[in-house]
Amino acid sequence: MRQKVSSAISKYFRYPRHLAALIRHAGLKKTANVLLVESERLRGRSVLRGKPYYYFVDPCNVCNLRCPLCPTGNGELDRAKGMLKFADYQIILDKIAPYAVEISLHNWGEPLLNKDIFKIISTTRARGIATNMSSNLSIEKENIGEQIVKSGLEYLIVSLDGTTQDVYEQYRVRGELDLVMHNLRDIIAAKKRLRSKTPTIEWQFLVFKHNEHQMAAAEELAPQIGVDKLRFRSPGFPLGDYKLKAKASQQEAEDRWMPTDPAYWELHPGQMRKDGYLWDEPCYYLYRSMTVNPGGGVAACCIVYKDRQDFGNLVRDDLATIWNNQQYQRSRALFGKNPADRAGTVCDGCFLFKRPLGVSVAQGLAQAPLIAEDAIGISATSRQRTRQVEKE
Ligand SMILES: C[S@@+](CC[C@H](N)C(=O)[O-])C[C@H]1O[C@@H](n2cnc3c(N)ncnc32)[C@H](O)[C@@H]1O
Ligand code: SF4
Ligand code: SF4
Repeated sequence: MRQKVSSAISKYFRYPRHLAALIRHAGLKKTANVLLVESERLRGRSVLRGKPYYYFVDPCNVCNLRCPLCPTGNGELDRAKGMLKFADYQIILDKIAPYAVEISLHNWGEPLLNKDIFKIISTTRARGIATNMSSNLSIEKENIGEQIVKSGLEYLIVSLDGTTQDVYEQYRVRGELDLVMHNLRDIIAAKKRLRSKTPTIEWQFLVFKHNEHQMAAAEELAPQIGVDKLRFRSPGFPLGDYKLKAKASQQEAEDRWMPTDPAYWELHPGQMRKDGYLWDEPCYYLYRSMTVNPGGGVAACCIVYKDRQDFGNLVRDDLATIWNNQQYQRSRALFGKNPADRAGTVCDGCFLFKRPLGVSVAQGLAQAPLIAEDAIGISATSRQRTRQVEKE
């Protein structure tokens, strides 16, 4: 078991920024909690003594852009929309701070639209917790560079999928490439001026059919701008009314967006249609992470975007009660030893992780007809988000 735990941990931390976060931010108590969670995960427990150590707290679920495969961008987000209030964030932070190693301050919107975003980041930093944030950076904000650097943000992902306006705006609809570049340069200049190593800046380039020919140009441009890394990532598709056979509209979307290079087919819906899952392992979100939306709603994970599927509310309820409530227990049981003996949750209709006893998506839906319609409210837009929990 000890070996398995250490292999699970090293898998999780094979991405240096998570390891750095653990080393920098987790004292003995937090590290002991990480080890406990990992051992309970490997044993397939439904009731956990360990607490989540990675959090997604969404500062805002509205956006200035209209990315076609994002539920916020295409109008499919089905939850109350708005900003996370700073007072609510303080309540949430008080509850999670004893366990949190790292917090992602983004989920279903543009975090920089929240007027308190820098206060949210610096307050988190002051509690000794690592922060990361993904932004489209296509936004006008005074002194953006200095404000970001001074907030203490550790890791910034910049969503920029192209090197010319005409290509970039095909996915980042309403985005302005010049503005993104201006902001990026401003942040890098502020880092230099303030002699700050943070934030580490990742240029994230989602590889689609319409932009894959610009990957080489991005590789050339990245060092000129001075970003710390350029990462090409596979695009995800909304699962929507996913069925085992693609509908014409789904096929059309895949033909439109999926790159020709199979290296970026990590989230290919065809894989889900073939096997009924993407990844051959139990879901780790249900053990390691908690996703909190503006207003406090706790979702099973960062890809669930309907508030009627929420598992609780972290502004209102306490962490331990939510973490082992019926929905969490039932969802974890899906990956445990006796998945048949359980009631359904949103996780029954999820096609991302393999269920150990081979329960297929079709069986899962049949077992939980009442949530079958809800289950389609999952969007696998992002292996990237998944990776943020598990492996990045
Ligand atoms: C929903 S966005 C919210 C943060 C911010 N608005 C942004 O776009 O960076 C969270 C992450 O999902 C990524 N994303 C958007 N559409 C995606 C897609 N179709 N496949 C994979 N990741 C996607 C974004 O680039 C971003 O890193
Ligand atoms: S992916 Fe980000 S930038 Fe695009 S619509 Fe969604 S929240 Fe906005
Ligand atoms: S919806 Fe899927 S990925 Fe999300 S917590 Fe449930 S099983 Fe895991």
